[in-house]
Amino acid sequence: WGKTGHRTVGEVASQHLTGKAKRAIKEILKGESLALVSNYADDIKSDRSYSKFGPWHYVNFPMDKKYTDVVPSTYGDLVKGIETCIAIVKDENSSEEDKAFYLKMLVHFIGDLHQPLHVGREEDRGGNNIQLQWFGKGTNLHRVWDSNLIDEFGMSYTELAGNLHSLSKKERKAIQEGDLYDWVEESQELAKEVYGSVEVGEKLGYEYSYKYTNTVRMQLQKGGLRLAKVLNDLF
Ligand code: ADE
Ligand code: ZN
Ligand code: ZN
Repeated sequence: WGKTGHRTVGEVASQHLTGKAKRAIKEILKGESLALVSNYADDIKSDRSYSKFGPWHYVNFPMDKKYTDVVPSTYGDLVKGIETCIAIVKDENSSEEDKAFYLKMLVHFIGDLHQPLHVGREEDRGGNNIQLQWFGKGTNLHRVWDSNLIDEFGMSYTELAGNLHSLSKKERKAIQEGDLYDWVEESQELAKEVYGSVEVGEKLGYEYSYKYTNTVRMQLQKGGLRLAKVLNDLF
């Protein structure tokens, strides 16, 4: 996702934390909100010394395979990234600095996990190589899903977080069920639909935007609720 998507995920998560998790996070992040730290992992991309974290933003493998059926990339991927972040934040022996760093990364990566094309195909780099037009301007399928669809809402992250579906406690619990591998599978299923939703070079506009508005809103909400689940379990 782009900035607004990640902030929305962070904002939704902070609304579903236990008191205990809230206090622990406040201490680690020195009062900074989850929304505020949610784009840190993108901000450090321009710094060469952090280049090893680049592949942690996504996981690419064939659409007809499961994550557990493929040999994982030696460079790391989104799944390994999330697992590493959780392990380091959980470890009592981690330094305060490391805990803060990997918690920020975790907030971002749980968000990325819910952008369907971050569980994508290697050959088109998660849709980055599929060129399209968005209201007459050049874009690509990945960018449509990272930010073009969300920007079209014309909302701040707080507005967007306050305008997601109202769910019952039971519905929220159902979303928080399953593990990381289930969530990867779910994103992959959605990625298959997204890949089938366009032709290369297609001119997208209102119709596409309306068609996927609710899907995007639901992905942001799921990301937030599951981030809250991960953090509540962690603290
Ligand atoms: N670069 C290569 N594959 C990618 C993906 N699936 N998402 C984002 N960036 C990528
Ligand atoms: Zn992206
Ligand atoms: Zn990212």
